[in-house]
Amino acid sequence: MQTITKLKMLRNTVDGLRAGGARIALVPTMGALHEGHLTLVRAARAAADHVVVSIFVNPTQFGEGEDLDAYPRQLAADSALLEAEDVSAIWAPAPEEVYPQGYATNVSVAGVSSGLCGDDRPGHFDGVATVVCKLFNQVRPDCAFFGEKDWQQLAVIRRMSRDLDLTLPHVDAVHGVPTVREEDGLAMSSRNAYLSKEQRAAAGTLPRAMQAAIAAMKSGVAAAGALKELEDTLLTSGFESIDYAELRDADTIELANEASENTRLFLAARIGGTRLIDNMPAALNV
Ligand code: PAF
Repeated sequence: MQTITKLKMLRNTVDGLRAGGARIALVPTMGALHEGHLTLVRAARAAADHVVVSIFVNPTQFGEGEDLDAYPRQLAADSALLEAEDVSAIWAPAPEEVYPQGYATNVSVAGVSSGLCGDDRPGHFDGVATVVCKLFNQVRPDCAFFGEKDWQQLAVIRRMSRDLDLTLPHVDAVHGVPTVREEDGLAMSSRNAYLSKEQRAAAGTLPRAMQAAIAAMKSGVAAAGALKELEDTLLTSGFESIDYAELRDADTIELANEASENTRLFLAARIGGTRLIDNMPAALNV
């Protein structure tokens, strides 16, 4: 497994891997890898001959006052995990390699970037779309893998890939991989490491309260009431604020008043200053 930090070297390496028609899968990450990322790597491994994992804490997707500086960086530990997963190359560029002096281009995806994290974190999805567009062009993979935990991000990347024809000839598939959860149901996230022992214990309420809200809606409770109950449960369990608890269409990310065929429940809530997000299908017939 090679760790590559320069674009020219990446191009040479990927061309070498592709020789003879081998398929390349890309798993974009910001490092601080956990079982959720490794599940993406395994899905990528099953779909392609070679897996390239990018590790890049992308500054353009962090807003002012967010955790860019504090975001965990642990390349040595991440490399050891990826070596064991038979990854062919790690693409770990420095910020100047990705955004050299004079960099002036931004990819902005309308519609699906609005609402939810798009409203709470202005500019976040422009940063994500821009860096993922660059990663696709840098690595030129045949397919790429993303976690469904960041469902809105996945919707943004899919829209961008279709709109900018990034799906052909290189990225023929943007795959979403189901969220990997801790034993108590909390979605795995690099940010869970910020939680104290008490906060971590309380955080387990989040998926349970979401499931309870979905069950209530299935049994006929109106969405407004079920979502209010969900928020109240979290606020009495140690969460200090709720950024959003909303039903939205899974593809368009448009707001839905009630659960129906293609809706998901989306939640972002803060505990001890850490912002946790999750989403689950909320179709009445599932
Ligand atoms: O999900 C992430 O880790 C990041 O948003 C991504 C897709 C690697 C882009 O920086």
